[in-house]
Amino acid sequence: MKDFSFYAPTQVVFGAKAEEKIPQLIKNYGGTKVLIHYGGKSAEKSGLLQEIKQRLTDAGIPFLTLGGVVPNPRLSKAKEGIDLCRKEGIDFILAVGGGSVIDSSKCMALGVPYEGDVWDFYAGKAQASACLPLAAVLTIPAAGSEMSGGSVITKDEGELKWSYDDNQCRCKFAIMNPVRTYTLPAYQTACGITDIMMHTMERYFSHEEMGITDALSIALLKKVKEYGPEVLKNPEDYYLRSQIMWAGSLAHNDLTGCGTIGDWATHNMEHELSALYGVAHGAGLAALWCHWAAYVMDEGVARFARFAREVLDVVDEDDTTAANKGISRMRSFYRSIGMPASIPELIGRKATKEELLLMAEKCSRNDTITNGNFKRLTYEDVLKIYTAANE
Ligand code: NZQ
Ligand code: ZN
Repeated sequence: MKDFSFYAPTQVVFGAKAEEKIPQLIKNYGGTKVLIHYGGKSAEKSGLLQEIKQRLTDAGIPFLTLGGVVPNPRLSKAKEGIDLCRKEGIDFILAVGGGSVIDSSKCMALGVPYEGDVWDFYAGKAQASACLPLAAVLTIPAAGSEMSGGSVITKDEGELKWSYDDNQCRCKFAIMNPVRTYTLPAYQTACGITDIMMHTMERYFSHEEMGITDALSIALLKKVKEYGPEVLKNPEDYYLRSQIMWAGSLAHNDLTGCGTIGDWATHNMEHELSALYGVAHGAGLAALWCHWAAYVMDEGVARFARFAREVLDVVDEDDTTAANKGISRMRSFYRSIGMPASIPELIGRKATKEELLLMAEKCSRNDTITNGNFKRLTYEDVLKIYTAANE
């Protein structure tokens, strides 16, 4: 087990009336003028946005709004928000939405106090020394950004989707009301289930044995795999929605990463898919994972066999057979919840040779870095996995 530092400072307020606490929490964390940041139409349509505006008005907290964040959020929108925050003297950002809105908010919060181009952080050219306080009202359990230190932004020119990790931009608080997720389309719910499981799997596929952490991971994976299909059948079941929502935060607040360095190759490869085709992140992960797994399995068959036995109820005595059955069961699971298990299933056609080459080049930064830790993947490896996923 590797040494680690666990830092999860976000105050979680969970429950059917969680929104009531928003004004007081903003005040507690020093906010005096707020920017409410949101996505497309969902928060407006559900009445959530109006409710939050009313609560802030009643509490005498001045605010502005900025909507229009798209899934796989764009740098240009965050820059628009940075200008607005500076001009209006905003000192607190409230993200109302999912990973895309929260990440756009983090990018803005990092950009406001920075004199240079905020993209410097994502391009690895600078480390932030300050960040505006921010918080999230979560409407989709998936990305886990409400408790993570990361944000993923797409630079409009060149479709570069890169991430930046910084503890300074962890949300001060996260409002989680499972009722708000009842309106999610089945496809988005399934994307969320996939991403939540994948955040645990990325950390689980390590060469470290981690008794407690592994047990937590297995429990999360088993429960999300059990509740996921049920919630798709019963989208307005409070208990099921609440379990998935809490799992989403636990899967990505680093709890399941204590003692491991994690893999993250599937995530890095997926970011190229969502950058190029604009697909939902969770769906992109499902399209790739089985192909990554088959490619790297020989680096640690026992780990894959344990995953197969403990998460997917495979009973074979022989590790290789069990590991292969586990991968095959994950493929069936993805399809059973309406997720793709290959690139053609994801985008409705095969990727062209040029597209595969482009994604492999971008993912390996023109063959200058490797991806993943379970097996360190070179440019050639990444290209082979994309190619296998394209069959
Ligand atoms: O824009 P609106 O109209 O709100 O619609 C959204 C969007 O179309 C809709 N939606 C959200 N809540 C809803 C709802 N529709 C109906 N009812 C509701 N209650 O769902 C769609 C997807 O939203 P989005 O925020 O894009 O989803 P998600 O939370 O999956 O976020 C994906 C982004 O997060 C990044 C991904 O790469 C992607 O860009 N990630 C961020 C991470 C982080 N910061 O730690 C880690 C993740 O691995 C991930 O990479
Ligand atoms: Zn993810």
